Amino acid sequence: MNPLEERARAIQAHGNLPRHVAVIMDGNGRWAERRGQPRIFGHRAGMKSVRAVIEAAGDLGIEALTLYAFSKENWKRPPAEVDALMGLLRRYMKSEREELIERGARIEAIGDLDQLGGAARAELDRLIEATAHCDRLRVTLALSYGGRAEIVEAARRIARAAVAGNLDPQSLDEPAFARFLYSPDLPDPDLLVRTSGEMRISNFLLWQIAYAELYVTETLWPDFGREAFFEAIEDYQSRERRFGRVMA
Ligand code: IPE
Ligand code: IPE
Ligand code: MG
Repeated sequence: MNPLEERARAIQAHGNLPRHVAVIMDGNGRWAERRGQPRIFGHRAGMKSVRAVIEAAGDLGIEALTLYAFSKENWKRPPAEVDALMGLLRRYMKSEREELIERGARIEAIGDLDQLGGAARAELDRLIEATAHCDRLRVTLALSYGGRAEIVEAARRIARAAVAGNLDPQSLDEPAFARFLYSPDLPDPDLLVRTSGEMRISNFLLWQIAYAELYVTETLWPDFGREAFFEAIEDYQSRERRFGRVMA
């Protein structure tokens, strides 16, 4: 067994695996700039990290992985970067399809998906359909995603249901509210990973991360691979989650 396989075994033997890991994949631009290259060079390099993390999560037996790939605010970047990112996303979704099916990865998406261009949207729909039967790992891509927008959209759906007489406002509690979010059947993330050292949430899963463990690494996203992912999981396994209580 090589050292990484041994590490994977030890993580599994520990038992306390996060069910759901969410990742803010940050630092592609800086990775490229440090090499005197255009930002898109970093985005391209980041694709192999996506593959590595999906593989590592599947191998460990983690149930769900949510990847922040493009925020609602990212539309405000220069059009050339946005176009290049959309092109990369499209190509990724097409070229990785067979591999994802083989790995048993079921792809889903959250965000304002209507904002995606027609070609990217079509490729996404194709990928979602092609992997719908896969049941090893649930991979949710956050695309054109904003946490506040998700909450506002939930409020809108709730208001509509109430006006239509299908929902009694008095019955609305936290679980009932959460059922109106984009992915009501995903458990909340246990672990939120952010690469490239930034200590912020950047409008990601605001509702769902109420009690997530936060892990920030200086490693830039294109340098983040299987080993770095294992490190994040090991760190999580050393934490004591209290959920506001006092431990005995
Ligand atoms: C993350 O890398 C990828 C996206 C946000 C799409 P960045 O592009 O934000 O890279 P930095 O943070 O500028 O280095
Ligand atoms: C968050 O990264 C969004 C994604 C990783 C897709 P950003 O680079 O857009 O966030 P800020 O601007 O540093 O907060
Ligand atoms: Mg960034």
